[in-house]
Amino acid sequence: KENKLWGGRFEESVTDAVERFSESISFDKALYKQDIRGSRAHATMLAAQGLITTSDRDSILNGLDVIERTIEAGDFVWRTDREDVHMNIEAALTDMIGEPAKKLHTARSRNDQVVTDLRLWCRDAIDSILFHIKKLQVVLVYLAMRNEGLIVPGYTHLQRAQPVLLQHLLLSYVEQLERDAGRFIDCKNRLNFCPLGACALAGTGLPIDRFMTSDALGFTAPLRNSIDAVSDRDFVLEFLSASSIAAIHLSRLGEEWVLWASEEFGFLVPSDSVSTGSSIMPQKKNPDPMELVRGKSARVVGDLITVLVLCKGLPQAYNRDLQEDKEPLFDSVKTIMGMLEVTAEFAQNITFNHERIQRALPAGHLDATTLADYLVKKGVPFRTSHDIVGRCVAFCLSKDCQLSDLSLDELTAIDPVFEKDVYEFVGVNNSVSKFCSYGSTGSACVSEQLSYWVSKLGIS
Ligand code: ARG
Repeated sequence: KENKLWGGRFEESVTDAVERFSESISFDKALYKQDIRGSRAHATMLAAQGLITTSDRDSILNGLDVIERTIEAGDFVWRTDREDVHMNIEAALTDMIGEPAKKLHTARSRNDQVVTDLRLWCRDAIDSILFHIKKLQVVLVYLAMRNEGLIVPGYTHLQRAQPVLLQHLLLSYVEQLERDAGRFIDCKNRLNFCPLGACALAGTGLPIDRFMTSDALGFTAPLRNSIDAVSDRDFVLEFLSASSIAAIHLSRLGEEWVLWASEEFGFLVPSDSVSTGSSIMPQKKNPDPMELVRGKSARVVGDLITVLVLCKGLPQAYNRDLQEDKEPLFDSVKTIMGMLEVTAEFAQNITFNHERIQRALPAGHLDATTLADYLVKKGVPFRTSHDIVGRCVAFCLSKDCQLSDLSLDELTAIDPVFEKDVYEFVGVNNSVSKFCSYGSTGSACVSEQLSYWVSKLGIS
C-alpha cells in the first residue's frame, strides 16, 4: 500500500472497510475541473509571493494541464486509496513531476480546497440551470402565442371558478420561473466569495495573497473569516432551497398537465413522442414525463433535507460529515436540469383540445362573478349583488341551465335591478372581455404581459 499524503505520524494504514467507507473519489471526481482551476490559481499566487519558484510553478501548471487532459480523455486512474479528488490529483502530479508538486499544498488545506471547488461548481451549475429555466420560459411563451384567445375554465379548490385565457395561465408559470431564476442569481451572488487561503481553519503565517487567488477564480472577494470559510455550507443549502422551490413549481405544472391529459378533463393531448403505453392495457397512453417531473421533485426536496440535517449538529470549522454534502448537491442538479429539459420538451409536444375545452366552458357558472360585478355597476352593494347572483345560480341549478339562459323576466323576478344589458355580462366570452384590472385575464392585459415576455426573453 502507498504511504498516505499524511503518512508521517502513522504506523498502520486504514482497514479496507474504513477505506471503502471514507472514500469520496467515486463521486467527488466530478469536481476535478474546479479542483485543477483552484490549484492553478494557488500555484500562480505562491510563485508571485515568492513561496515557490517560477520554475516550480511552471512544472506544476504543465503537470496540471496534462492531468486535466488525461482525465478528459478518460485515461486517468482514480484510486480509492487516494481517497478524494484533491489527493488523487496531487498524488498523480507528484508521480508525474516529483518535487515541485510537493510544494503545491503550501498554505492550503483540503478544508479550504474542497469548499472552493464546491463554490466554483455551484456557480457553474447555476449558470446551466439559468439557461434551462430561460429555455422553458421561451417554450411556454411560444405555447401561449400559439393559443391566442383560447378561454379555459379557471379553478380554485379544483372547482370551476372563473374563465381565464389559457395564455394567462401559461404566463403564470413563466412568472414563477422568473422568480426561480432570481433566487438562483441571488444565491450565486452570495456564494461567490473565496475560501482559498483559509487553510485548515485559522489561515496561515505564510505571506499568501488571498485577494490574488480570489480574483483569479472570478470571486467577488476572499471570505473575511477563515473559520467561517471552511465551516459553512449555507450556500449549498441556499442552492438546494432555490432548487426545491423551482422543483415544486415544475411539479405543480406537471400535476396540472397530467390532470388535463385525463379523459375526465381532456383539455390537453400530448403527442406520442412524449407519452408511454401500458404493458398490459393496449389502449393506454400515459403522460409519464410530467408524472416523473412531479415525482422527481421529491428527490430535490429530499436532497435539501439531507444537507439541512447534515449541518444541524456540527460545531464550527470543518467536520468530515461535510463530505456528505456532495452527493445530494450533485443529485439535485442532475434532477432539476432533467426536469426543466423534459418539461420544455413536453410543452413543445402538446396540443390543447379546443373542442373539449369549448364543451367544458358552459358548466360551473364561470360567469357568476362577472354578473355580480354587473350589479355593482348598477349601484348594488357587492354583498347584496353576491346574494342576488347566488339566487340566480340556485335557480339555474334547479332548471339545469346557465345564467345566460335565463330570460329577463326570470332575472327580474329574482331582483328588479336586472336590465337588458345584462346579456353583455353573461357567458364566458363576455365575462373574459370584462376583465381590465392590471394583471387580470382580460385580453388587453394578457397581450401586455405577452409583449413583456416576448421582449424580456428576446423572442422574435
Ligand atoms: N473529501 C473531503 C470532503 O469532501 C475533503 C476534505 C477533507 N478534509 C479532511 N481534513 N479530511 O469534505
